[in-house]
Amino acid sequence: MRVADFRSDTVTRPSSEMLAAMVAAPLGDDVLEGDPTVARLESEVARRLGKDGAWFVPSGTMANSIAVGSWTRPGDELLLERSAHMVQWEAGAAGALHGVQSLTLHAPDGRLDLDEVRRSVRMRSLHCPRTALICVEQTFMGSGEGPGGRVLPLEHLGQLKALASELGIPVHMDGARLFNASVASGVDVRNYAACADSVSVCLSKGLGCPVGSLIAGPRDFLERARLMRKRLGGWMRQSGILAAAGLYALEHNVARLADDHVLAKELASVLDGLEGLECSPNQVESNIVMARVAHRRHDPVSLMEALKRHNVLVLPQNATTLRFVTHLDVGTEDVARVLVAMEDALR
Ligand SMILES: Cc1ncc(COP(=O)(O)O)c(C=O)c1O
Repeated sequence: MRVADFRSDTVTRPSSEMLAAMVAAPLGDDVLEGDPTVARLESEVARRLGKDGAWFVPSGTMANSIAVGSWTRPGDELLLERSAHMVQWEAGAAGALHGVQSLTLHAPDGRLDLDEVRRSVRMRSLHCPRTALICVEQTFMGSGEGPGGRVLPLEHLGQLKALASELGIPVHMDGARLFNASVASGVDVRNYAACADSVSVCLSKGLGCPVGSLIAGPRDFLERARLMRKRLGGWMRQSGILAAAGLYALEHNVARLADDHVLAKELASVLDGLEGLECSPNQVESNIVMARVAHRRHDPVSLMEALKRHNVLVLPQNATTLRFVTHLDVGTEDVARVLVAMEDALR
């Protein structure tokens, strides 16, 4: 029986067209003479983001880690929302790899309060760490406390960037799902990217690639970022085979993210009608659906197990919330299967 996999938009398999593009890619050793397909992907992403350049790396975690390592020195501090992927799900990379601590603010919708940001920036003193980088996440996954996959408004990001510039602090945007934000809002990725100094984007989320992320930014940052990529072991060899998937995805899989967003709303409407689940379709802004479980017998883990018996896969986001993510490899028929499985589980 087919598995309806709503755990993440990272579970997609490359299509036969994407695989054909990968097989046909001209290759080189990127660390020696360079790989022409990687070079094409890096310049295409830099062009779309309006940055001086970009480096191709294996993962979003590495792209974010390169940004942290390139903007900071050991003993510095990051300022970011407490449920940010960089805080919760990157195995403490900022501290473990770069000797940097994180000061986290609480903003369940992902919008940092500007006054709080201003108050949280450290005074210049021998006693204090230096606030070296402000990080934002677009779209904002969230902790499950509020809706997930929020599209941070351009106006807010612009105000945050203006404040950061006034304070002399660079901004890094974790844009793992930046293309989702752009398709959902109609705002060009370049305009979002202009609100940050460095930007990471992932090809292996909704865009359907098997591997790959890019870290983009200004020229001086890119020099440091290239060294950091080398140190972290992220400079790959005939990686044009992977970059070709990225070029294919940028051409064919961006506009269709709108389908994932429609499906996510459809799924939220289905879930919201069920006893013991709360999930407002009006709050779904992209491809992530958070369903609060308020059921007398079930919690998110027991529901996940019950759905698995119907070959429907989901993940708990926290102790009270189940997370569903839509992507290229799920469709309306899978939403119908969620309904059947959920009704059975809740019965
Ligand atoms: C918002 C966000 N940033 C970064 C990452 C890290 O990406 P990767 O799994 O490629 O390391 C993820 C992964 O899901 C993510 O959701």
